[in-house]
Amino acid sequence: MSNFHDKVVYQVYPKSFKDSNGDGIGDLRGVIEKLAYLADLGVDMLWLNPFFTSPQNDNGYDISNYKEIDPLFGTMADFEELVHKAEALGMEIMLDMVLNHSSTEHEWFQKALAGDKEYQDYYYLRPAQENGDLPTNWESKFGGPSWSKFGQTDLYYMHLFDPTQADLNWHNPKVREELHQVVNFWLNKGVKGFRFDVINLIGKSTTELVDDLTGNGKPLYTDQPIVHDYLKEMNQATFGRVADTVTVGEMSSTTIENCVLYSNPTREELSMAFSFHHLKVDYVDGEKWSLMPFDFLALKNILNDWQTGMSEGDGWNALFWNNHDQPRAISRFADPVNYHSESATLLAQTIHLLRGTPYIYQGEELGMTNPDYEAIEDFMDIETHNAYRKLQEKGLSESEAMAIIREKSRDNNRTPMQWTDEEHAGFTTGTPWLKVVDNYREINVAKEVAKGSIFSYYQRLIQLRKELPIIANGSYEGLLLEHPSVYAYARHLNGETVLVFNHFYAEPVTIQVPEEYLNRSSRYLIGNGQERELTSSLTLAPYETIAFYLDA
Ligand code: GLC
Ligand code: CA
Repeated sequence: MSNFHDKVVYQVYPKSFKDSNGDGIGDLRGVIEKLAYLADLGVDMLWLNPFFTSPQNDNGYDISNYKEIDPLFGTMADFEELVHKAEALGMEIMLDMVLNHSSTEHEWFQKALAGDKEYQDYYYLRPAQENGDLPTNWESKFGGPSWSKFGQTDLYYMHLFDPTQADLNWHNPKVREELHQVVNFWLNKGVKGFRFDVINLIGKSTTELVDDLTGNGKPLYTDQPIVHDYLKEMNQATFGRVADTVTVGEMSSTTIENCVLYSNPTREELSMAFSFHHLKVDYVDGEKWSLMPFDFLALKNILNDWQTGMSEGDGWNALFWNNHDQPRAISRFADPVNYHSESATLLAQTIHLLRGTPYIYQGEELGMTNPDYEAIEDFMDIETHNAYRKLQEKGLSESEAMAIIREKSRDNNRTPMQWTDEEHAGFTTGTPWLKVVDNYREINVAKEVAKGSIFSYYQRLIQLRKELPIIANGSYEGLLLEHPSVYAYARHLNGETVLVFNHFYAEPVTIQVPEEYLNRSSRYLIGNGQERELTSSLTLAPYETIAFYLDA
């Protein structure tokens, strides 16, 4: 079995994790300070969001030098110390590689602007269409067209995100070689994992860049067959040469079929894939900037389809609820006000016992929540500010727009980590770059570790994955698929079974356990409610999660 199936990854958003020098911005020395805390949690790998040199228009996803550390976050010596100290505590480092685009301040783009033909071929530069339209009608993911004027020329350059994030031309072998060198540079520093940002967008439509006659361009630049070739090539040229590296691709609007290809080990592309369909179940008609209660059956069906489909194709899922681009799952899918601990542990167990590799986003192990900011000035994210403007252009009032922003902004998950009940939650001695959530006196590491029930629950889930091969490697079977408030599943390995029941609502509910599991010897494994035996009917308390182990 693959070496990473029993591992758990913890995502550190460096800007908001721990500030060591009082400038209000988290940094690498702050991460070093807290390594013992992370080791105590029991995680194996730390994914750090980008800390490379960057104008920070998109919080570091606009990189101007891939081989340097932005002084905001520290120095190369700090980074090397981090790698070694983490390793001494049994943890490895996973870096965030943003290879689909570079900052327009990157030397390559600057040379292109200055007229250097070689570097102009590093990007997608095109003239307007004959009728004067932009080269294609593709829309930027942050709103507006995906083309901007290239300096004083008649050309335009492509940017699927912000205008300061220019898409790199992967069709050019020189570009691919440069990017391979970047990955190798970090491998040589002892990095053992890579998260590849929006990696399924690197192969733009293979022949020509043309208008999408049916929409916004997505199908012409997403999951193109050539992406698989580029990944295989990168694997061979870089991380595939170093034993035990772990890679995960962030896949935008992808399919199960493609993710099987990206992550099936025989393909030699990546170890696993992030997909996002399960986090769109509170979007009205697929539109993120809208409000609706989440659709539980849709959530369950999507998780079930991905578990089943990826198993059948021998692919591997990255399992997650939170990251730096999502609002807090506890605020979206559960009830942190009335059932704080139950909600946090329910969400944790639901994914930690599935087939795949669980990711914990910083603060999740405390049950951190959305901040409930009042004013648009409290938000820093570029996508949020664009959406705020666009929603009002569409005719929404200021307060209607704010209501949506408060639920959907990416800043919901970027708030400073809550360490203590002291000022600024112990995150900084200065002024935090983003406001701390008001509830930090109740929700913080010091309190949670001393007498909470969430952190210790995560510890047990992480341990279980290491102790029981059935959790790391068992097959998956969805149960009670029609049930409107419980997501139930079984894992199977060599005749053993683990049964998991996850109740997503506050009204108690009684379920019938499928008969085939009743006459076997079983024991209570883990849960956030009362310890019980497996009986033919089970009554689940609000937000209860419970798992049983059945002998072969
Ligand atoms: C990914 C990142 C996100 C960033 C975008 C552009 O989705 O997770 O934070 O804005 O790519 O790089
Ligand atoms: Ca700092």
